[in-house]
Amino acid sequence: MAAPGEAAIRVHGLSKSFGQVQAVRAIGFDVSQGEIFGLVGPDGAGKTTTMRMLAAVLQPDEGEIVIDGVDVAAEPELAKLHLSYMPQRFGLYEDLTVSENIFFYAELFGVSRSERMSRSERLLSAAGLLSFRRRLAGQLSGGMKQKLGLVCALIHTPKVLLLDEPTTGVDPVSRRDFWAILYDLRESGVTIVLSTAYMDEAERCSRLALLHGGAIRHCDTPSRLKESMPGALLAIPAADPRGMRDALVGKPGVLGVLLMGDRVHVRVDDAAKRIPELHALLEGHGFPGAVIEPTEPGIEDVFVALLGQGSAS
Ligand SMILES: Nc1ncnc2c1ncn2[C@@H]1O[C@H](COP(=O)(O)OP(=O)(O)O)[C@@H](O)[C@H]1O
Ligand SMILES: [Mg+2]
Repeated sequence: MAAPGEAAIRVHGLSKSFGQVQAVRAIGFDVSQGEIFGLVGPDGAGKTTTMRMLAAVLQPDEGEIVIDGVDVAAEPELAKLHLSYMPQRFGLYEDLTVSENIFFYAELFGVSRSERMSRSERLLSAAGLLSFRRRLAGQLSGGMKQKLGLVCALIHTPKVLLLDEPTTGVDPVSRRDFWAILYDLRESGVTIVLSTAYMDEAERCSRLALLHGGAIRHCDTPSRLKESMPGALLAIPAADPRGMRDALVGKPGVLGVLLMGDRVHVRVDDAAKRIPELHALLEGHGFPGAVIEPTEPGIEDVFVALLGQGSAS
């Protein structure tokens, strides 16, 4: 057991290579009990490798992981009793029904028959899956499959829940159900680590680690990450956002340009100085009368600014 006030998860100097590929490079972080800690970064950043090491299914080359007071490398089987891991591709049995899948995992985790009934009822209801109990898992929609994966992962009562991109490909309604369950778990003291490619989800986390090239580049609360973003952010509505982006990229004082739907976000070194310059510049590029206004950064702006990638989307 973790002592009161002690971190539920402690990671120190964790590294893993696959041949020449250094998938994870000396990362470290602490997660307090009841936090939702987000691992965010582009494909290949090392999110899944980190998750698998936390889940005690992959041996680190170096470093230390302590989960709920248990040294994961020394006692992987004991650590597994404290955690539940939902891999990026969760292993559902497509030719079993929803209920049968849940009971399979209940058996695996040694959950008693009476407890499994009441728990699965409650979880299925929260996931909006109660009326699909008898449906074959293979016939569920993508979002329903992910929610069933979560129900299976929660059929025992983990202290630590590890979710690797749990909502990728899940529709917005199902994602809302999913997050409602996560918030309930957090209320009951479960510590959650999840990786996500969705910026709105990153924003919901207590703290975020921005992973890039296997290393943690930044780690803080979403709001402090936003504050740490260099420069000032301007928003410009545009009928031709791509054309406007091309006109702005690389110009003096322009630190970054990001397309946000029908607006262009421009990060500049000095808003007061650059706004008049940008007016003139855009005018000369066939964008007369552009409305340029300071705007609050979203977490996506922060990513692009801090990781320096993704501006071409
Ligand atoms: N089993 C493996 N064998 C070889 N290379 C791997 C393996 N798992 C991951 N990698 C490599 O490690 C890097 C990090 O991968 P991964 O942890 O899956 O990133 P993410 O989940 O952030 O997309 C990538 O370059 C990937 O190709
Ligand atoms: Mg992954």
